[in-house]
Amino acid sequence: MTSSQFTKLLMHWHFNDNNRQMPWKGEKDPYKVWLSEVILQQTRVEQGWGYFERFLKQYPGIQQLAAANDDEVFKLWEGLGYYNRCKNLLVTARLITNKYEGVFPADYNTILSLKGVGDYTAAAIASFCFDLPYPVIDGNVLRVLARVFGIETPVDGKDAKKTFTALAEKLILKKDPGGFNQAIMDFGATICKPALPLCNSCPMQKTCTAHKQGMVNMLPVKEKTLKRKTRWVTYFIFKHGNTTLVHKRTGKDIWQNLFEFYIVETADNPKWNNAKVHDWLLNQLGITGSPAVQIINADTQKLTHQDIKGYFIKVTLASIPPQLKVPHLQWLKPAEVAQLPFPRFINQYTLKNALEAELFNC
Ligand code: ADE
Repeated sequence: MTSSQFTKLLMHWHFNDNNRQMPWKGEKDPYKVWLSEVILQQTRVEQGWGYFERFLKQYPGIQQLAAANDDEVFKLWEGLGYYNRCKNLLVTARLITNKYEGVFPADYNTILSLKGVGDYTAAAIASFCFDLPYPVIDGNVLRVLARVFGIETPVDGKDAKKTFTALAEKLILKKDPGGFNQAIMDFGATICKPALPLCNSCPMQKTCTAHKQGMVNMLPVKEKTLKRKTRWVTYFIFKHGNTTLVHKRTGKDIWQNLFEFYIVETADNPKWNNAKVHDWLLNQLGITGSPAVQIINADTQKLTHQDIKGYFIKVTLASIPPQLKVPHLQWLKPAEVAQLPFPRFINQYTLKNALEAELFNC
């Protein structure tokens, strides 16, 4: 996918299909944008929404906030946590009121110099309010770019910021940087979601590198995930006729060069049930008709520094969807599968099932 293709598809989606509603959307007043972005720094949109509205009602402009009594402001912030944000909010409101005569600075470096304003917030204010071409880089943006462009650089590693910022600077729409930033955030939050992305409704499905290579669930790469104490692994065992889908692991992670079934990793216990599996099959792979599924709890595997926990989900398919017909994924007969090296986590499962099948047969 080229840069201009990405931006075109993203903006087309934004103007035609993005129906995410938020009170600060389209806002150009820097006071309101700054307030919303500070609230959203460590708070989810749904939780921040009410606080944003209450703050604006109480302090319609930066001068009113600057003149407020500290305790009254902290009271209004109550429940949001990370009170340093609130302290900095007051410092900055007073600085702008006293030093900048109440006028919010309009250049990136001055915005960035404000207390409580980091790269992300500065880029949001600069682009939304002043049409400056600074891309926002957060978890949503990193995930979208890692998947669409197939970037395996760990998003929480030391090279991430440079790599992804350089790419985003190439992609950002110069004539509407604010629109672009809002579009990519919303796209990451509603379509290219972390665990259950809606690939089947995604306008980039055909051009997305991760999707083409069956890597959606393996990207973005996170060093922290690799080191996490408990890793949640779900293996979808797709069967079609007498063939089973397997693929070879690559990369620096555990089980390098071993084979495995179709993997989905999640940050927490995904607690699958039939409805959730059918939703996933539809959203991710466009599989309709609710095929028969069997959900099995995996045995925990204890490694030196982490536990691997998860599920095996057996899915019998009537036909193979195009997304599962890619070079990276192989459909093999039982005798071929038996030749391949698998991690112990999988062998534990197949061994147990083979034994059960034997018991049932006699
Ligand atoms: N998170 C931080 N800023 C945001 C914004 N402007 N829209 C949606 N989510 C956000």
